[in-house]
Amino acid sequence: MDTNTIDWGKLGFGYMKADYNVRCYYRDGKWGEIEVSSEETINIHMASTCLHYGQEAFEGMKAFRGKDGKIRVFRMDENAKRLQHTSDGIMMAKLPIEKFAEAVRKVIKLNERFVPPYESGCSLYIRPLLIGISPRIGVGPSTEYLFLIFVQPVGPYFKDGFKATPVVILRQYDRAAPLGTGTYKVGGNYAASLVPGDLGHKMGYSAVLYLDAKEKKYVDECGPANFFGIKDNTYVTPKSTSILPSITNMSLQQIAEDMGMTVERRQIPEEELATFEEAGECGTAAVVSPISMVKDQDLDKEYVYCKDGKPGPVCTALYNKLRAIQYGDEPDTHNWVTIID
Ligand code: PLP
Ligand code: COI
Repeated sequence: MDTNTIDWGKLGFGYMKADYNVRCYYRDGKWGEIEVSSEETINIHMASTCLHYGQEAFEGMKAFRGKDGKIRVFRMDENAKRLQHTSDGIMMAKLPIEKFAEAVRKVIKLNERFVPPYESGCSLYIRPLLIGISPRIGVGPSTEYLFLIFVQPVGPYFKDGFKATPVVILRQYDRAAPLGTGTYKVGGNYAASLVPGDLGHKMGYSAVLYLDAKEKKYVDECGPANFFGIKDNTYVTPKSTSILPSITNMSLQQIAEDMGMTVERRQIPEEELATFEEAGECGTAAVVSPISMVKDQDLDKEYVYCKDGKPGPVCTALYNKLRAIQYGDEPDTHNWVTIID
């Protein structure tokens, strides 16, 4: 692949092959050395626990090329910790934080030419994956695991880029149970979101906004991103036992505080959606994606934040500040960025 032929302005979130991926196996109770591969396929046993019992976890993070040409990875230690949290949650071997960091550095260096130029506004998406690979037919955890990371350049996750889009509440679907796997980044949560996600897209919405599964009363999160609302100089985001602890959200809470805003992490009853001045989704892929309207399909209610798709001032400020830190345009005062050299 000649990276000079990539039209950065048209780049979305589709799969693209880079040169190399890195792999590391857990066998006999220990992690091996990091191996480099240029194969896109993996050879695993057909009875692997990842295939049958969902013993599978992934992560998502990004690397950015700055004006100075340097490559910066955003908060990779947090992704390493979250993978450990997920591993505990579904009984997988835990990858040491240092091994995770070594693998990330290595895969970026090997694929340096795929890190998009600064001016493109694109980034290198980094996808770590951890799967149980022992054959087992009775339900139970593997004894052997494969950790791998592949990377690829990406543009915006939502095809409109930084533009406010509508989201929908579909009350007949849940993403995750209150005490289930919602806080873990496991494939099953995304499988559960496919049917509602498809329905939402067909209805013209960019994403589904899930309510808490137990009471259907509180806002949980979107399919691929956390939710936040803005009012009275306050950043409000859900506290829930069934949402993914988003690293972007954690960062935006700090940025909001740095901007002099109050931050509240608490339950958000659906009716409160009517009181927000702005609302948005946030995540590695979604970055900050402003919400133009939340539609509750079954109650036939609409909570409107903007009519013309133009992001509000607070969403814009949060987006700009986050991106400026990620691309190295503004000082990294919280030590969020790792320079890959
Ligand atoms: N919520 C879900 C369900 C996600 O898949 C993601 C994406 O990773 C997020 C939230 C955002 O998390 P982060 O900001 O760590 O990417
Ligand atoms: C991410 O933001 O990295 C995600 O994992 C979201 C999505 C692509 C599943």
